[in-house]
Amino acid sequence: MATSSVWCFVPFFVVLVFVLILLPQGSQHQHHGRRNQILSQLSSKAILVEGWLRDKQSTTDAEPASSSSSTEYYYYMSGSGNGIPFSPNLSTCHPTSSQIPDSPHKKSHEVNCCPASPDSGEPIVRDFQFPSPSSASPVRIRRPAHRLALDREYLAKYNKAVAIMKRLPPDHPHSWHRQAQIHCLYCNGAYYQAAAAAAADVPFMVHESWLFFPFHRFYVYFHERILGKLIGDDTFALPYWNYDSPDGMPIPDIYMKGELHDMKRATRHLPPAPVAIDYTPDKLDLSDEPPAAEQTATNLALLYQHMVSGASKPELFMGCKLRPGEDGACSGMGTAEAAPHNSVHLWVGDASMLEYEDMGTLYAAARDPLFFAHHANLDRLWAVWRRLHGYRGSRPEFDDPQWLDSHFYFHDENADLVRVRVRDAIDMDRFGYAYEEVDLPWLDARPKPSVAPELARDLLRAKEKDYDNMLRMATNKGPWTLEETVRVQVTRPPKSTIKAGQEELEEVLVVEGISVEKGMHAKFDIYVNLVVDDTAASPKLREYAGCFVKMKGADVAMKGGSRNMKVGISEILEDLQAGEDESIWVSLVPRGGTANATRVDGIRIEYMQ
Ligand SMILES: *[C@@H]1O[C@H](CO)[C@@H](O)[C@H](O)[C@H]1NC(C)=O
Ligand SMILES: *[C@@H]1O[C@H](CO)[C@@H](O)[C@H](O)[C@H]1NC(C)=O
Repeated sequence: MATSSVWCFVPFFVVLVFVLILLPQGSQHQHHGRRNQILSQLSSKAILVEGWLRDKQSTTDAEPASSSSSTEYYYYMSGSGNGIPFSPNLSTCHPTSSQIPDSPHKKSHEVNCCPASPDSGEPIVRDFQFPSPSSASPVRIRRPAHRLALDREYLAKYNKAVAIMKRLPPDHPHSWHRQAQIHCLYCNGAYYQAAAAAAADVPFMVHESWLFFPFHRFYVYFHERILGKLIGDDTFALPYWNYDSPDGMPIPDIYMKGELHDMKRATRHLPPAPVAIDYTPDKLDLSDEPPAAEQTATNLALLYQHMVSGASKPELFMGCKLRPGEDGACSGMGTAEAAPHNSVHLWVGDASMLEYEDMGTLYAAARDPLFFAHHANLDRLWAVWRRLHGYRGSRPEFDDPQWLDSHFYFHDENADLVRVRVRDAIDMDRFGYAYEEVDLPWLDARPKPSVAPELARDLLRAKEKDYDNMLRMATNKGPWTLEETVRVQVTRPPKSTIKAGQEELEEVLVVEGISVEKGMHAKFDIYVNLVVDDTAASPKLREYAGCFVKMKGADVAMKGGSRNMKVGISEILEDLQAGEDESIWVSLVPRGGTANATRVDGIRIEYMQ
């Protein structure tokens, strides 16, 4: 067993001890109930492990591991025409680092997420099959976590399943350890890409691209199926953290105790504090926290922009079109990956830890049970986005075989390694789960301009003449370091030169060539025609177009580590009555104390079909 695996288990042990210490506070009756529960968990665990070993043994007997059987992994989908899909090479698992230091004073942090017995040594039993719809297995309903605090029966099941997971041997594919390490494997570059045409050693990663939503849908799905299997309940469904509703914004109470608790969280963000979806890391001063009602309003306004107005096209919501090999590399997160995804990860994590562990860094995030509720909600928001933007059933966001045939590997509830393809992720209904419907208050949270548009126009003209007045340069070419706000005038390309199809063209602001010093987190906000002071600027203003958020450990190991951020601005320009202007003013407002480590190459406008 790798030393890092031992190290990872220490927190689980601490939690267990913590739980045991709390036990005597209950009544004698509860105490015995609890003891019996633990005993029954332990015995079911023993049966399970035995079963797994036996199964593994028999597969090995039937198909002795040989070099010929391992080639089975790498056949490519035929008929894709325009090249090979994106997939990991399971034979290439290697220790990786979370923070890659540029300078000697920053500590490199090696993480080894590889299983002790590599996945590449196991046969792929099959391609993923959807569960067959039958009356015996009704649709599993994922419910909002904040409404489950009184459902004792459900909480007992969920806690029991997690407890069994935590007690499995770390090497078992269903163990809590291995379940958490999946995130590390696929997000810190522990695998290289399996791509015959690509140069060797190009890391495989699923963040900041169009793979983000499909990958995490499968991850949460298999985790849920395994939890159900461990307690023999085929109807088990994970809850979701409904932070897009005011009542659901604090960390749900059910994640504050028992097996669902995690010690490594920011103490000042525990309930009843509402989540800050516009969270800026490094805001250590408690007095900075806005009142709850204001934070709630900010969250809803931000969600409107990131879910609706700024994300009218698939690429804007889901991320850039990543292709295999160094040449196909891209790094551009969708609006929802910047926030709520990244921002909520950072908000939950413990800021006193090196990388805001657990939730605030990719390699450790899934050690916190709250991870799965966070990602269940993102999965739900993907489904909501599809509904809002007219993608029904199996209609894909990108009709592109290279995306549709990209694949990953997961252990299913039977501990078989299965291959899953992006095309299977599209139609959520086929997985046999659904989300309990809740109100979407952010749909009505379309912000208002900070000042009347006519006044804003006069103010901008006056500023244009006054170069001392913080208008830094009237060019859209950087590079700039974001030590302070960068304001630039960006010319809009004439729309008439673009051939319009059936779909409406979206005007897109592209912040190009964003680079962040390795091992640093970073955040900046993007505003259009901002006339108020930076300190008064917030997502509650119509001028807010989006944000860029990077976690510390999310260092791109592709193409010089540069990224783009794209946000849709058509509706903003309409509301600001700037739709006819030749140019717009764009402000990149650094947030938090690390912006001097962030550089941007330029800003431009493109039209997206
Ligand atoms: C996977 O990695 C192994 C070991 O580096 C290599 O021999 C094999 O060619 C790779 N396969 C693909 C399809 O990239
Ligand atoms: C950024 O600012 C911090 C604090 O002011 C300073 O310690 C650090 O050296 C600066 N980094 C760069 C790259 O200028």
